[in-house]
Amino acid sequence: MPSPAPLLLLLTVLLPLSTAAITDPLPPHHHYRFTKNRLRLQTAATQPQEHFEITRPLPFSSLTPSCTLPIFSGKFGNTIGLPPSNATYYPPAKCTWSNAVLHLSAASAGYQYDRIAAVWLSGAEILRTSTAEPTDNGVFWNVRKDVTRYSFLLRQSNLTLSIMLENIVNDVFTGVYQVNLTFLYYDVNSNGASFDDSNVALSLFHPIPKSTPLNLNYTISSLDLNESPADLIIPISATGDYGFWFRIEGESDVRHEGIRIPLNTYRAVIEVYCSFHGNDEFWYSNPPDAYIGINGLRTRRGHGTYREVVVTLDDNVVGSAIPFPVIFTGGINPLFWEPVVSIGAFDLPSYEVELTPFLGILLDGKTHKFGFAVTDGIAFWLVDANLHLWIDKNVDKVQARPVRLVNPSSCIKREFTFQELDGKFEVEGKRGSEFSGWVNSSAGNFTTYVSTKLEFENTIQFRNNGKTKTVSQEVEVKNVVKIRSDTRMLILSNSLERKYPLSITSSTQPGSTHDTYTATTKLKHSITEEKSDGRLKSTLVNSQKAEGWMVVQDHDVLSGSASIYQRYSIRGGSGCYSRIVLAADGFVTNDTTSILCTSSL
Ligand SMILES: *[C@@H]1O[C@H](CO)[C@@H](O)[C@H](O)[C@H]1NC(C)=O
Ligand SMILES: *[C@@H]1O[C@H](CO)[C@@H](O)[C@H](O)[C@H]1NC(C)=O
Ligand SMILES: *[C@@H]1O[C@H](CO)[C@@H](O)[C@H](O)[C@H]1NC(C)=O
Ligand SMILES: *[C@@H]1O[C@H](CO)[C@@H](O)[C@H](O)[C@H]1NC(C)=O
Ligand SMILES: *[C@@H]1O[C@H](CO)[C@@H](O)[C@H](O)[C@H]1NC(C)=O
Ligand SMILES: *[C@@H]1O[C@H](CO)[C@@H](O)[C@H](O)[C@H]1NC(C)=O
Ligand SMILES: *[C@@H]1O[C@H](CO)[C@@H](O)[C@H](O)[C@H]1NC(C)=O
Repeated sequence: MPSPAPLLLLLTVLLPLSTAAITDPLPPHHHYRFTKNRLRLQTAATQPQEHFEITRPLPFSSLTPSCTLPIFSGKFGNTIGLPPSNATYYPPAKCTWSNAVLHLSAASAGYQYDRIAAVWLSGAEILRTSTAEPTDNGVFWNVRKDVTRYSFLLRQSNLTLSIMLENIVNDVFTGVYQVNLTFLYYDVNSNGASFDDSNVALSLFHPIPKSTPLNLNYTISSLDLNESPADLIIPISATGDYGFWFRIEGESDVRHEGIRIPLNTYRAVIEVYCSFHGNDEFWYSNPPDAYIGINGLRTRRGHGTYREVVVTLDDNVVGSAIPFPVIFTGGINPLFWEPVVSIGAFDLPSYEVELTPFLGILLDGKTHKFGFAVTDGIAFWLVDANLHLWIDKNVDKVQARPVRLVNPSSCIKREFTFQELDGKFEVEGKRGSEFSGWVNSSAGNFTTYVSTKLEFENTIQFRNNGKTKTVSQEVEVKNVVKIRSDTRMLILSNSLERKYPLSITSSTQPGSTHDTYTATTKLKHSITEEKSDGRLKSTLVNSQKAEGWMVVQDHDVLSGSASIYQRYSIRGGSGCYSRIVLAADGFVTNDTTSILCTSSL
């Protein structure tokens, strides 16, 4: 039998750098990786460095904002266990706007872990983000998010804006996070006079005119939440003292909230935010409990690799999401994520479920129970949601009936073999659902069809007495929403196909002293998104490839080297945009952008 020491070493391989449960002095709901003593990197960078996530410029960012509202400026030092910080929100006076952006600007210097943070307006989440890890010379970053979908809230007065970022500052952890929040308001529908034509690259992203709906009676012109924002948003979230997110501690930890919606609602969409922490931060690399138990390991990072965030209505599953595996800036190898952070790290995706087919159930004037759970989840997940509702102002009551509400089919298959520390673990999961229902409002009688297909595959392999570990995961989601009139004419349609593969190979060797080891890691992940509204199609490919090594002691990266290659390419919709960035050991070595649809980038 192998001695306990190599067993623990194994765990540090892909469950990177340490296990909070064993040695981490921090509360388990924080991350535990950071870099220190980065002599090479620090001698090179003497100025604060900008870290960034690669995304396309926002469609209207070439416009001059009609107004700007700085709403929050604060420092997050020792904020562990404290309630979120608040500011009072009033929309800017005498400002005509159609679109809005939330700009987060942050900076930190010193020694600190990565942290999770969120911003809420009146308890409705509008941004989930995580921090960069600071260096002694300091880092800063900017996040700009299109928040037009929250227009209903942004037009209200006297709302509480809350931001939560739990951090620890003491003799060892010195990094304080300074965060500023500003809202920018744009009047996209006005004449083009304010377009800045000097910025050719960005002007290609002039918003496309809203397509005229085929049937002029239908009240919204697009199923995209930012293009036709909801008339009412009801947060499904916690009370606020510990943040508005629900902290889900395990698979049986189902959170419910009773909600009654207005009787004149004609469309409903639930938008779910989630992030994974503690023992589930790297859920896609967690071996089954049997492996941990039989090998006598002390880690609690188990329960296999299947995770699905499930939304229930009156205890029936109405939708779900397999989350995109966002890697925080301390994750896998922290040297990968400077200055380019991982896909989604500064703006975690939210997941939408079209609930219109269920209006026949929801419009009975009674309170209905919305719930969230994480299939196979372990501690802990931070989950909350916003219920977006569209209201028929011409009538007090609309009529709706479900047509087809069949319980989604789902199956999860798990297979594994292992001998001592080596083994192979395979998980396959599938879910399919088809829902439809009609809603007769003052605009007419329309039937909404929603079909969703979700496929998941994950294989983990341990070799070389557990010292070499590979993770290979594929996720495919296909979602189609169609709205038809009572003459079966297609009014609106939306299809979204997303793929997000992930592969990680990692191996460790003992270091020169007994308490260090060297980890060599390769990582490849991407998100591909194909969208179509029946007329316009667009394709996004966003992929990162990183490799490197590091010498690790306890939670510290003592030395190492890493490089990353990222390709971001969007085609169709309102133009083309592609960008390729290469970075090595903390510096960008090539950054090439093209706006030509003929470009090979
Ligand atoms: C935040 O705003 C304050 C006051 O305007 C400014 O001094 C500070 O540099 C800003 N910090 C960041 C990170 O943007
Ligand atoms: C703003 O809201 C708070 C509590 O929700 C209330 O106490 C206060 O009176 C309101 N202020 C104004 C000016 O309406
Ligand atoms: C901010 O507002 C939330 C919600 O009202 C509240 O729970 C929390 O205690 C407030 N934070 C502070 C610092 O007062
Ligand atoms: C559909 O809704 C409209 C507006 O509320 C109403 O006038 C009409 O009678 C409804 N149609 C039926 C068949 O109930
Ligand atoms: C659209 O509205 C017109 C005028 O109100 C009405 O005559 C027509 O029947 C409506 N069409 C549908 C599909 O509801
Ligand atoms: C609405 O359309 C559906 C499907 O065409 C039909 O079954 C239903 O009776 C209609 N409802 C009303 C109120 O007309
Ligand atoms: C940077 O990358 C682009 C695209 O891959 C390539 O065409 C260009 O030659 C590279 N430039 C340098 C300086 O390496």
